[in-house]
Order: sequence, then C-alpha cells, then structure tokens
Amino acid sequence: MAKILVIGAAGQLGIDLVLALQAQHGVGNVDVSDIRVPDDEGVMHSRFLHLDATDEGAVHRVLEEGRYHAVYHLAAMLSATGEKKPIAAWDLNMQSLFNVLEAAKEGWVERVFWPSSIAVFGPQTPKQDVPQDALFDPTTVYGISKQAGEYWCRYYHEKFGVDVRSIRYPGLIGHRSEPGGGTTDYAVEIYHAATAGEAYTCFLRADQALPMMYMDDAVRGTLELMAAPADRIQIRTSYNLGAMSFTPSEVANGIQQHLPNFQVNYAPDHRQAIAESWPESIDDTAARSDWGWEPRVLLPEMTSIMLDAIGKKTQSAVH
Ligand code: SER
Repeated sequence: MAKILVIGAAGQLGIDLVLALQAQHGVGNVDVSDIRVPDDEGVMHSRFLHLDATDEGAVHRVLEEGRYHAVYHLAAMLSATGEKKPIAAWDLNMQSLFNVLEAAKEGWVERVFWPSSIAVFGPQTPKQDVPQDALFDPTTVYGISKQAGEYWCRYYHEKFGVDVRSIRYPGLIGHRSEPGGGTTDYAVEIYHAATAGEAYTCFLRADQALPMMYMDDAVRGTLELMAAPADRIQIRTSYNLGAMSFTPSEVANGIQQHLPNFQVNYAPDHRQAIAESWPESIDDTAARSDWGWEPRVLLPEMTSIMLDAIGKKTQSAVH
C-alpha cells in the first residue's frame, strides 16, 4: 500500500483529511506530523512525527527516509492571524512549501497536495462566479503567499516534473475540528454557540456573503483530485472549487429553524475588511470538467448535520 504523510495534521482540514485517508488507505499507511499534537484520538492512531515544516533539514530527513507516495502539506498561517504577524506568515507559508517542493524535485515524494485559497482574489476580482483565471489582487499576506505559492507549484511542475496539485478552498465548515485564525471561522463557531445554547457575536456583517464548503465535500474533492490521472490535471497553479455562498444572517436563519431561540449579534472587526475583499461565489467549471468535481452538501443539509453532530459530541462529553 502507498504511504502517505500529512503535514499540518493538527489543523482544521488536517484532522478531517487524516481520518478520511486512514479509512481509505489504512491507519498504518498514513503518517501525521505537526508542531503540536493533534487533538483527535483517531488521528493519533497514525504514527505521529513532531515536525516543524519550516525546518528544511528536518523536512528533508523525514521525506527522504519516508519515501511517501503522497504528501499533503497543509501547514499554514491563515488570513486573520497572518495580518497580525505578516513576516512570520510569509516565512511559514513559503519556506514550508519550498521544503516540500524541493524534496519532490529530489524524487523522494511522488505526489504533493498543497492548498490554496479564495484569498488569492481581491477587490478588483469580480464578486460573482469568479473565473479560474480572474484578476488576482490579494490584500492579505496569506493571500499573497497563496498566490505566489500557486505559481511556484506550477514552476516546479513545468521545470522539474513535480506532480503537485492544488485547490483554492473556500471557507471550510466541519464538526470534527476547530478552525484557527481564518476570516471564515465564524461559520463554524456559530454552530458551536447555537448548540451550547449561547448567543453568538459574529465578527462579520450580517450580509457579508462568502464562498463556503462543507468539510466532507472538501475532503472528498481533495482525494478525488489526488487520485485523478496526471494527464487530467490541466491546471498546475490551483483549481477554483465552489459549493455554496451564504451570509451570516442566512446561517443564523437556518439555525433558528432548528433552535428558534438562538440569537446572533453583529460586531464586525478587522476581519470584515478581509471578507469584503474576497469574492462571493466561485466558478469551478475547470475542476468539474478536468476531474469530475461536484459538491454534494448545501446550507440546509449542512446545518442539520452540524447541529446534530456537535450536539451529540457535547452530550457524550457531559455523560
Ligand atoms: N478559511 C481561510 C481564511 O479564512 C480562507 O482560505 O483564512
């Protein structure tokens, strides 16, 4: 069986992706790494390597010894935290990518996944149905690093034949992991507050629409992209991937259909400006035609799933 490594396994996407990879390939074939221990029992069934993704020597040692078929390199500082520590965000996001791309260039890894984001777009990008090759003008360090990273991925593919694949994720919403430092985090936090019977204070405006995706769709899309034959991958920067677009008030209304007493207040902070610079919806025609992408879960179903799953988790923690 092919061996796989997930770098950044303790993060929001990392936890869900590891669980899916374990189910697909077997726990023994998936190694996980991070600078902190993942807060998930299932993830920790895999072999855990303490790894600083910015440490070139350490990353290269692990990859040269591991001879992984695929490496999912997810470690990054996201949009909101990145604005507080711009140089640290750039260093982490870029240096870690170079470490993995160089290892792949050496032939130690066959296939690399690296996530990009809707943060590559900016105020001059069209707001609706943003095409794959829209004008990029990222305003955050996170977005700048993702845009630069996309071109580095394509560069390593074209110059050195590195099989690196990427998705521009929208905001991701799941119940198994916590988001950390992003502008779309409200869309996870709001379900936790509602389930705990608390009011939620949203840091974005009530009418701020953003592209979003249910975590299981994002994970399935990632695995589908990575399983596709190389000649189907026409885009070596990063694929637009769409699912749904909604505002905080639409999520709140959806939750109130299950929990009529749930209340949301709005206190937009510095993250509002980031959200405003991003598009509202994404055209993902290329991903659909190249490797068959199709989202499955939309807002009403996601709301039921999130409330149900978080509710069960809370109950089992109490008993
Ligand atoms: N979820 C990310 C963020 O908000 C977007 O890629 O930073």
